[in-house]
Amino acid sequence: MREKIAGLLEQIQSFEAESREHLEAFRIQYLSKKGLIPALFNDFKQVAAEDRKEMGMLLNNLKQKAQEILDLQQERFVAVKENKIQMDTSLPAPALGGGRHPLSIVRRDLNSIFERIGFKIAEGPEIEDDFHNFTALNFPEEHPARDMQDTFFISKSPDIALRTHTSSVQVRVMEQGKLPIRIIAPGRVFRNEAISARAHCIFHQIEGLYIDKDVSFADLKQTLFYFAQEFFGPETKIRFRPSYFPFTETSAEMDVSCNICGGKGCNICKYSGWVEILGCGMVDPNVLEACGIDSNVYSGYAFGMGIERITMMKYQINDLRLFFENDMRFLKQFETLV
Ligand code: DAH
Repeated sequence: MREKIAGLLEQIQSFEAESREHLEAFRIQYLSKKGLIPALFNDFKQVAAEDRKEMGMLLNNLKQKAQEILDLQQERFVAVKENKIQMDTSLPAPALGGGRHPLSIVRRDLNSIFERIGFKIAEGPEIEDDFHNFTALNFPEEHPARDMQDTFFISKSPDIALRTHTSSVQVRVMEQGKLPIRIIAPGRVFRNEAISARAHCIFHQIEGLYIDKDVSFADLKQTLFYFAQEFFGPETKIRFRPSYFPFTETSAEMDVSCNICGGKGCNICKYSGWVEILGCGMVDPNVLEACGIDSNVYSGYAFGMGIERITMMKYQINDLRLFFENDMRFLKQFETLV
């Protein structure tokens, strides 16, 4: 009996159906009522009591294998040989689960906030030359940002580097010469920084640029006030402090009232009630001229901010590295915000 079972097992395992009829013959030969496997089940009655357990297992296994082979090859026939894959492409896809990354959620919100007041989205390359990243933006020759310590260079002479800020997209857009300009440019930037809870060598910024006739600092303030209230909530206050950037004159930094304590003072805002979120200013005439725009006719404002920073503020995230680690316990908290 044992040999018979082993023999049949070998036969069925090497079976390869050539047609539907061939497969049907297989079924009749092995599995039908008068087939070889049921016949063995009949013989089972004569097996000695002490062998029954083992033989029963072997027999059941044989039957199961034969059925599996039959089912499998039947499926293949219908699907492949007759080219009749049953598929309805109009059915809705099953839900895939998962959610957006918090930085994607914030980038999308920022895009929509600025698009609502007429800004278009612009892009530029992540690998930039010195002109677009520094020179056209009025960085002096000896500016420390041009140093290897701050910038990841790809080659020297010509100077090619990973862009250190999205301000390079300002230059790319102005060069095209289509005025007026009203763009935002979200994107990845790179700096040679040690990774910590507050800094990373890869992060994201969003840049804003508006160039037209008679643009004033009041326009800039109003736009950023609108942004702050849309993004952090209607209670949000803003304030400007004088600052310096090579590519803007006048330059300022903007703080928003701390959204954690509502401005009363807490450890996030270092008990000042304010948190710095962006740099901004009126585009320096030197920058306009470097990009072929007549600074006697046109003026404009620009601003730039770190997306990680405002995401951390909005969702009370205390370690920037969490954005890059793909820890599901962190990411799952944003699933419902899709
Ligand atoms: N590029 C600056 C940075 O990376 C941010 C910035 C400041 C952008 C002032 C601007 C601006 O457009 O006007 O730190």
